[in-house]
Amino acid sequence: MLNIGIIGTGGMANAHAAAFGAMRGVRLTACCDVVAERAAAFAEKHNIPRVYTDYDVMLDSEKLHGVTNVTPDAMHAKISLAVIARGLNILCEKPLATSLADAIAMRDAAQAAGVINMVNFSYRNSAGLQKAAEIVRKGTLGRIIHVESSYLQSWLNKACWGDWQTNPGLAWRLSTRHGSAGDLGDIGCHIYDMTCFLAGQDISEINCQLRTFDKGVPGNVLGEYVLDANDSFASIVSLSGGALGVVHSSRWATGQGNSLRVRVFGDQGGIEVDLDRDWNGYRICTGKDLKANAWKTVTCKPTPTNFERFIKSIKTGVNDVNDFANGAKIQAYLHYSFASDAAHAPVAVELPDAVSA
Ligand SMILES: NC(=O)c1ccc[n+]([C@@H]2O[C@H](COP(=O)([O-])OP(=O)(O)OC[C@H]3O[C@@H](n4cnc5c(N)ncnc54)[C@H](O)[C@@H]3O)[C@@H](O)[C@H]2O)c1
Repeated sequence: MLNIGIIGTGGMANAHAAAFGAMRGVRLTACCDVVAERAAAFAEKHNIPRVYTDYDVMLDSEKLHGVTNVTPDAMHAKISLAVIARGLNILCEKPLATSLADAIAMRDAAQAAGVINMVNFSYRNSAGLQKAAEIVRKGTLGRIIHVESSYLQSWLNKACWGDWQTNPGLAWRLSTRHGSAGDLGDIGCHIYDMTCFLAGQDISEINCQLRTFDKGVPGNVLGEYVLDANDSFASIVSLSGGALGVVHSSRWATGQGNSLRVRVFGDQGGIEVDLDRDWNGYRICTGKDLKANAWKTVTCKPTPTNFERFIKSIKTGVNDVNDFANGAKIQAYLHYSFASDAAHAPVAVELPDAVSA
């Protein structure tokens, strides 16, 4: 039986608890939140026997096999490093950190400690994405030439998730002093991850523009929130295998709730993962369909979720590919996107190699 502890018992932690709680051979033995009543209510809801308000106390008191860090982004580094320092396996929410330096420190610490380390880029739970990535890795599309990716939401335009002007859970995402790296930090990390995972290539250069649009609020200040975080970004990227790509996202995309789509085009075929269209499938145009530009839809059996992969990694000792090194790589893309926007120029992505254990 594997004992799992949860740190941070807010909104997203419910998905973690539901997933781990439903797995055979896994039990949730402890949870922790700085808001005691929230942690207690969470423990009762998910049947978790022990509750803490201090994660250090939890880590020292419990016999845990793995810890999931579901705290706000700004706490990811400090708490994950505390977990790793105790030799415990760690699943951390995305983005891995709030700075490239922290993300690299987390990557190196996890690797030096030899613990299982994963980041919850949750769109990797899509069977369509997993199977399409296998097809690209097999070389079915030939030489990858062009990539096009978008992550589109509309909650700034229409109150599809509630009114951001009265909902602090949305309002903080518009304010850098509340820890938000804007649209780029919140959902840009997902679309960069999905793009590189599907294309099977890293990003070597980024030319990014960020925008913060007028929201019709006098002075762009809403109570304690200064509405200065970016709302949209568009990046032209060069990939390590020579392909060119466009990656973009927005919170102003009218008519789009939470829409992710990545298309990869090679000289022998194209592939598309469109999560609005199909979570468990992809579309492909290759072989004799090329001349007619005809696309086939392929439906896949569900693949293991990040939570299942984390448990499998703990059991086998073999780390999943969605590790802290990948998290640090995506953090580098966020870092160099900001740098490119500030410089009004393309910038090369530089990521120091991991220190070997
Ligand atoms: N993978 C995904 O698709 C996805 C979706 C939503 C959120 N997230 C990520 O999950 C994380 C949490 O987001 P959320 O929406 O649940 O936020 P939230 O604010 O609802 O919950 C965070 C919780 O952490 C607690 N917390 C803060 N500091 C703490 C500390 N030092 N010790 C213990 N608890 C502490 C807070 O009190 C709060 O209850 C964020 O990093 C976010 O980016 C990921």
